[in-house]
Amino acid sequence: PVIRLEDYQPTDYLIDTVSLAIGLHPTETRVTATLALRPNPAGHAGASLALDGDELVFVSAALDGSPLAADAYTASPEKFVLHRPPQQPFTLTIETCVNPTANTKLMGLYRSNGTYCTQCEADGFRRITYFLDRPDVLSVYTTRIEADADTPLLLGNGNPAEAGALADGRHFAVWHDPFPKPSYLFAIVGGDLDHVEDVFTTASGRKVKVAVYVERGKRERARYALDALQRAMRWDEEVFGREYDLDVFNIVAVSAFNMGAMENKGLNIFNDKYVLASADTATDSDYANIEAVIAHEYFHNWTGNRITCRDWFQLCLKEGLTVFRDQEFSSDARSRPVKRIADVRVLRSAQFPEDAGPLAHPVRPRAYKEINNFYTATVYEKGAELIRVLKTLVGGQHFRRGMDLYFERHDGTAATIEEFIACFAEASGRDLSAFSQWYEQAGTPRLSARGRYDAGAKTYTLTLAQTTLPTPDQPEKRPMVIPVALGLIGESGRELPLTTADGATDGGVLVLDGAERTVIFTDVEERPVPSLLRGFSAPAILDLDLTDDDLLVLFAHDTDAFNQWQAAQTVATRIIVRAVEALHAGGTVQVPVGLAQALGHFLDARALRDPAFAAQVLSLPGEADIAREIGENIDPEAIFTARKAVRETLGQALAGKLAHLYGELAIDAPYSPDAAQAGKRALRNGVLGLLTAGDAARGEALARAQFDAATNMTDRLGALSVLSLVAGEAREAALQAFYDRYRDDPLVLDKWFALQASIPEAGTLERVKRLLSHPAFSLSNPNRTRALIGSFAMANLTQFARADGAGFAFVADVILQLDPANPQVASRLSTAFRTWKTLEPGRRAHAEAALRRIAAATPLSQDVADIVTRSLA
Ligand code: ARG
Ligand code: ZN
Repeated sequence: PVIRLEDYQPTDYLIDTVSLAIGLHPTETRVTATLALRPNPAGHAGASLALDGDELVFVSAALDGSPLAADAYTASPEKFVLHRPPQQPFTLTIETCVNPTANTKLMGLYRSNGTYCTQCEADGFRRITYFLDRPDVLSVYTTRIEADADTPLLLGNGNPAEAGALADGRHFAVWHDPFPKPSYLFAIVGGDLDHVEDVFTTASGRKVKVAVYVERGKRERARYALDALQRAMRWDEEVFGREYDLDVFNIVAVSAFNMGAMENKGLNIFNDKYVLASADTATDSDYANIEAVIAHEYFHNWTGNRITCRDWFQLCLKEGLTVFRDQEFSSDARSRPVKRIADVRVLRSAQFPEDAGPLAHPVRPRAYKEINNFYTATVYEKGAELIRVLKTLVGGQHFRRGMDLYFERHDGTAATIEEFIACFAEASGRDLSAFSQWYEQAGTPRLSARGRYDAGAKTYTLTLAQTTLPTPDQPEKRPMVIPVALGLIGESGRELPLTTADGATDGGVLVLDGAERTVIFTDVEERPVPSLLRGFSAPAILDLDLTDDDLLVLFAHDTDAFNQWQAAQTVATRIIVRAVEALHAGGTVQVPVGLAQALGHFLDARALRDPAFAAQVLSLPGEADIAREIGENIDPEAIFTARKAVRETLGQALAGKLAHLYGELAIDAPYSPDAAQAGKRALRNGVLGLLTAGDAARGEALARAQFDAATNMTDRLGALSVLSLVAGEAREAALQAFYDRYRDDPLVLDKWFALQASIPEAGTLERVKRLLSHPAFSLSNPNRTRALIGSFAMANLTQFARADGAGFAFVADVILQLDPANPQVASRLSTAFRTWKTLEPGRRAHAEAALRRIAAATPLSQDVADIVTRSLA
C-alpha cells in the first residue's frame, strides 16, 4: 500500500501514558503494556481502536483491569483491534510475547552478542507491543525491566527510578521518562557491559551523569566518545542555547546494528563502529566520524525528540536539521573549509546520483511504500544543505532567532516543515514560500554562468540560468531559489570589489530565484574570473564557461578555500574526461603541464602550512565523479584507465616534491586524533598514493616500510591500501600480517574485508566469493556484510559493473540470500544499482537482468521490492 502525505489524519485516540513491564528472556520475553487512552478531540468519535503489531504473539488483554470478552477485540500478529472503545479515558492492558534471539531483522527487541537492545525507528516498536506506532502520538513512558543475574545492567529511557533484587536471582529496574515522546524513541538495554562515565554540568548548573557502555574489555576505547559527547553538549548550549534536560545520558554500543546510531531519549544506542576507538584500531576518519555521530544523536535531543515529526514525510525536519547541526559542530571543532569540502564530497557521491536516477525523491517525499527506504542521502544530506541555504538567505542572526522561535513554539509537539519554515519567515520578515519549493522538488538544479567583460566600459556582465531535469513523477520543474555566493578575482590575483547599480550582490550573495538573471558589475578594473557558489552555497551542479587557465587563476588566488579546491578538481575532472575520450578514439592520454605545475606551486606554498586542505586538493576526483560528469553510456574500465594514466603522469611530474613532502610530513609526537595530526597523516598518505602512481617500485618500498613501522591504524591502513593495488606476494603477505594481528578485532576485520572487496582488478570477484566462506564472515552482522558486499557494490565500480555481468549477478545473489533474514540491510545493498541506467548498453542489460531476477523472487520483502521496482521503472 502507498502512504500519501495528503492523506494525513490525526489518530482517533491518544495515549497519555504507557507503563511497560518487560521480563527479559532470550526466547520468550514477556511484555505487559498498560496504556492510558482517551478519545482524540481531533479524531472520529466512536471509531474502533486499531493498534499496530508486527510478528507479535498475543497473550491477553484487559480493559480497565478486567479481561476482555472474546468478541470485544481481534488480535493477529499485525493488528490488535478494540471494536467499541469507551468514549472517555480508559486503560488497556495487553500482554505479548517476543523472541529476541530469533529477531534477525534487528528491528524491535533483539540480541546483539548477548546484549538485549532495541531499535524502534521508524516502525519497530510494534514488534515489541501493540501500539499507535506513529510519531504524532506522544506519551509519557514508565518502563520496568526484569532479568536474570547474568544480565546485571538494565537501562531505559529517562531517569532511573527504582531498582532491586527479586526471588531466584532475578532483579529489576524502573525507568521514568517525564518528556512525552513518540514510540520510535523508546529503548531498553539489558546486558553485562563495561562503561566509562563522567559528570557534565549544564550551563544552568544541572549535574548530568553521562556514560558510554561497551562490551567488556573495550572500556578504554570508549573514552573518545565520552569526550566528544561532552564537547557536543557544551557546543549546543553555546551555539543554539540548548541545554540537556534529564539527570542521565547513556550511550550503549552494540555490534549488530542496521544503521549508524539511534537517538532514543536519554538512551542512545550506537553501532559500535561509531563509538569504539583506539590509535591501534581506528583511523583518523573513524575518530572524526565518531565525533560527528555522537554529536548528531545528542543534538537530536532537541531537534527530533523535544520537537518531533508529525508524520514520516517530515523526516528531514529532524534529520536534515540535525545533520546541519553536526556539520557545524565538526566545523567548529576542526577546519571549517576542510569539513565543507568533505561534506560536499559526500553529497555529490551519495546524493547527486540518487537525485539523478530512478530513486530520486524530494527532500520531503509525497508518497512511500516502505518508510525505511527513505532514510536517504536526499533526506539527510540534501536536507542539511537546505538548512544551510535557508541560513544564507535570511542571514545568521535571523537564522538563530528563527531557531529560538521554533524551539519555543513547538517544544513538546510533533511538527511539520511548514511550521518550521514559518518560524524563519516570522523571525526575518521574509516571504519564504519560494524557498520552500526546495522541499517539494526532486532533482539537482544545473546552474549555468556566462560572463562578458567590457574593458572599455569596465563592466562585467554575468548571466546565471538554471534548469532541473525531470525526475520520476515530476516531469515539469520550477526554478529554485538559489543563493549564489560569489566574488570576482582579477587575473592579477586580487579580489575585486563587487559594485552593481542596484546592490544585487549585497553580502557577496546573489539570489537567483527565476530561470535566469543578469547582473552588471561596474568599475571592474581588470578582466575578472568569477568565483561562484562559494562555499558551495547551494546544492546545484555548476556549469562554468571558464577556461582551464581561468580555473587555475582561482586555484591560485581565490580567497574562498572551497572554490580554490573546486577549481583544481574541475581542471582535473576535465583532463580525465578528455583522457576517456582520447582512449575511446584510440589515442593516448595527454596531461597538460598546467595542472602539474599549479599543483607543484600549491604544494610548495601550502602543503606544510595546511596539510588537511592540501590532502583534499591532492585527492583527485574519483571514478564515480568522472562517471557523473560524463553522464551516460558509462564504460567504467575506460574511466579507470584514464584516471590511472592521469595520476601516473602527475605522480611522475611531481615525484621530487612528493618524495620530499613524504619525509617532511612524518610525525614524531605520540599519536593524537586531533585535526592537526590527522591532516598531516591524510596528506602523507595521499602523497604516498600519488607517488606510487608515478613510480610503483619506489612507492611500494615506502609503503612496506610504513606498514611495518606504523604506530597507528591510519598509517597502517594507508600503507596497506597502497600495497593492495599491486598484485603479488607482497600484497598477500601484508594482508595476512594484518589479519593475524587483528583476527580478534571485529571492527578492524571489517576494514580488512572492505579493502579486499575494493581492489580494482578482475580477480576481486573470486576473492570476494572466497571471503564469503571465510570463518570470520557472516551475513548476520550488518557491518561485516557492508564491509565485504557493500564495498564491492558501492566502492568498486569496475568490478561490480564487470562487462560480463558477473558482479551484478553476484550482488543480486547475496541480496536474495540476505533478504529473508534482514530486509533493511538487503534493501540498502540493492540501492547499489541506482545508477544502472547510465551504463553503456552491454552492462546496462546485465544490470537490468539482475534487477529483474531480484524483482521476480518470492517471497521478497517489501523493502527490497520497493527499491527494485522503482529502480526498474
Ligand atoms: N534516527 C537515526 C539517525 O539518523 C537513524 C534511524 C534510521 N532508521 C531506519 N529505519 N533506517 O540518527
Ligand atoms: Zn539522525
